[in-house]
Amino acid sequence: MRKFLVINGPNLNRLGVREPAVYGRENLKTLERNLQQLAEQQGVHIECVQSNHEGVIIDWIHGADENFDGIVINPGAFTHYSYAIRDAIASISVPVLEVHISNVHKREAFRHESVTAPVTAGQIVGLDIYGYELAILALLQKKGE
Ligand code: DQA
Repeated sequence: MRKFLVINGPNLNRLGVREPAVYGRENLKTLERNLQQLAEQQGVHIECVQSNHEGVIIDWIHGADENFDGIVINPGAFTHYSYAIRDAIASISVPVLEVHISNVHKREAFRHESVTAPVTAGQIVGLDIYGYELAILALLQKKGE
């Protein structure tokens, strides 16, 4: 069975209560439950993790290279400045897709740049929490690449 790791970065544990006009009213639990339903439908294994700590996220990325077939990551604000997370993604061979719940391009200028996106297979932006499901479906299409 194919295995995918979904990593949520800082402040995403606050989904549902955090700036609902920007991030919606669904919480992390609902997001992860939707992904587990998708996993059942697709016959794959999905593991979901969240951390507010850069080093923890880096360790998960490294570990996924041996243990998963792909990663979906929302690095939160680390997206915009963490060269360490970028280097961690560049160091592994399994495909990584970056997801952002909000449309970062119509927000503050500092959110327009992603230092991590150039080392990922692709990016999904502004489709609310549905973006995570699309990312998993896209990774499933990568079979055989
Ligand atoms: C975010 C966008 C980032 O700019 C922000 O720091 C987040 C969430 C998003 O999912 O839209 O924490 O990654």
